[in-house]
Amino acid sequence: TPPSTELINKMQKQLSGEAFQLLKEIGETASRIDMPVYLIGGIVRDILLDRPNFDIDIVAEGNGIELANRLMETHGGDVLEHESFGTATWNTPSGLSIDLVSSRLEYYEQPAALPEIETSVLEDDLQRRDFTINAMAIRLNAEAFGELIDPFGGQNDLREKKIKILHNISFVEDPTRIFRAVRFEQRFGFSMDEQTEKLALESIDKVIHLSPQRINEEMIRLFTEGSPQEVIRRLFELNVWQQFGVHEKQLDASVATAEHLEQIYNEQVRKITNLQIAEKPSWFNYFLLPFYCNDSLYAAEKFTLRKNRKKLLEEIMALQRHEQWNEFTQIGDYHLFLHDYSDEAILFTLVADQVPHQGSVMEYLYHRNKLQNYLNGGDLVKAGLKPGPNFSKILLHLEVSQLNGDVSTKEEADQWLEEYVCTL
Ligand code: CTP
Repeated sequence: TPPSTELINKMQKQLSGEAFQLLKEIGETASRIDMPVYLIGGIVRDILLDRPNFDIDIVAEGNGIELANRLMETHGGDVLEHESFGTATWNTPSGLSIDLVSSRLEYYEQPAALPEIETSVLEDDLQRRDFTINAMAIRLNAEAFGELIDPFGGQNDLREKKIKILHNISFVEDPTRIFRAVRFEQRFGFSMDEQTEKLALESIDKVIHLSPQRINEEMIRLFTEGSPQEVIRRLFELNVWQQFGVHEKQLDASVATAEHLEQIYNEQVRKITNLQIAEKPSWFNYFLLPFYCNDSLYAAEKFTLRKNRKKLLEEIMALQRHEQWNEFTQIGDYHLFLHDYSDEAILFTLVADQVPHQGSVMEYLYHRNKLQNYLNGGDLVKAGLKPGPNFSKILLHLEVSQLNGDVSTKEEADQWLEEYVCTL
């Protein structure tokens, strides 16, 4: 497509004035050394969609490192060379960071290459990408600034809201693309075309070969970008949960529980302002739900990489085994078995286990987060008690009394202790 004023207008709209100017200057600098240069990947897609994107990825048909150094000479800033990849990052004087990638090595081994071959070098780069909508480039050289390179019909798929892979073994080569496809579906309200979805299903068993670290990264992105219910549902449709041992019949329960979890955060957590908890359930809560519904939380352990998540999972597993969720007449009684558990684990279990009398438990959480430390170990020693493991038990019982409203001042706590000592 020849340069179009419409595309240039879109670039101007989505890029900062400064970024737009830099792209023009990159094009001019590259033209001086006869090097074709392009804006490429996600940012091109987003410009066409009228969405902001600040990741400026540039591909040079030539030596990206040389181009970066030229830019530094003419415009300042500094250059970080990644020699073995043939890429460089140019940090501009105004603080932007621009990645310059060299397309295929063969190119600068034969600098006299014909123009047709130049085109094919760029196409080769685009061809290796995930989806048609991500496989477009915009030429930046002065003589053709704003020319869209779209060999796989990406622009048309943007219009038709389609996520389409470029070749049949795309998902086999890189199964993370299945997660990426779902993410783009969610983000843009697009859907995979029939063939792409069929191939995703055919290679779904490959996702278990991805490292837990990789799966975490993809899940974090999915659950922070998309609606958790929709993400859970879609991953069932594509047999992803099933690869992790979750039975497909858990779909409805998992989706419904995700909805309840979101609801309780929206309605309760906001009201009870003192909980030690984020405003929304973390991605990890949602990730655990299908395993929980399937009664196979242990299968989520290998994906639990951080210490704080390991702790949360352990707590939830322990709470799941608890039989004591009856309604107590006094909220202090909840404290006896819940005092060691975090707000987050308790909330998760309340929802996932459909614990009755949730209101009372919420009330307990509210009050326990307001507990005052009236006494400490030193006070117990002063009262003549011998230090030992029973100290924490005594202090726990004091907290129970506070929660039940029997102790609400320092004086009452002192008196409570006096009476306690008398019973010994
Ligand atoms: N890419 C790919 N296969 C992957 C990951 C990335 O082909 N598994 C390609 C895509 O062409 C993508 C580009 O690399 O456009 C850059 O990747 P990334 O920055 O992760 O994706 P974006 O498309 O920019 O998405 P986002 O908007 O989420 O950053």
